[in-house]
Amino acid sequence: MALQLNDVAPDFTQDSTEGPIHFYDWAGDSWVVLFSHPKDFTPVCTTELGVVAKLKPEFQKRNAKVIGLSVDAAASHTGWSKDIEETQGAKLNFPLIADHDRKVADLYGMIHPNASDTMTVRSVFIIDPAHKVRLTLTYPASTGRNFDELLRVIDSLQLTDKHKVATPANWRQGEDVIIVTSVTNDQAKDLFPDGWTEHKPYLRTVKQPVG
Ligand code: BEZ
Repeated sequence: MALQLNDVAPDFTQDSTEGPIHFYDWAGDSWVVLFSHPKDFTPVCTTELGVVAKLKPEFQKRNAKVIGLSVDAAASHTGWSKDIEETQGAKLNFPLIADHDRKVADLYGMIHPNASDTMTVRSVFIIDPAHKVRLTLTYPASTGRNFDELLRVIDSLQLTDKHKVATPANWRQGEDVIIVTSVTNDQAKDLFPDGWTEHKPYLRTVKQPVG
């Protein structure tokens, strides 16, 4: 069965552009964005990897590491990285897993046979420091992903874990957030001493907590 939210992300050891990766060791106590792309030397993937390389500092600010994957060999990834640098103006600065035997792709369900027998789809897994899967998404090969959205999701998840708030549709940093329904009004008085707005008993908004 496909990996689902809150499942434990499987550990693995696999080749990469930075040598063998022992996944849990590599992840350490960071959040991880593990994303697959269909194939090296393809146009949409080239733009995606350039964008992720440029966004690496933003992921780092959130204690998140990024790691890509396709079923191509490490030598192919390394050759392609020159094109990424040349065309996207960004050097590959994170590992690309070379999943030549599909070990990781099978563990994570990244090959969807009705889409392609041979290529990984555009899967994303956001994995927390306890190795729990906190987001999954799958995009078609023809649509490049919005990696700013992944940063937004990490911000939201970290706010939830730390402050017991959820984030509304299209939320952006600094906008009001929602007190999770499991928090009673009595508990909310301690957590949010400056008060909140009750639109409905189940919809209470509050300024985004800092820190
Ligand atoms: C691309 O990255 O452009 C791509 C990869 C595989 C299939 C189709 C498009």
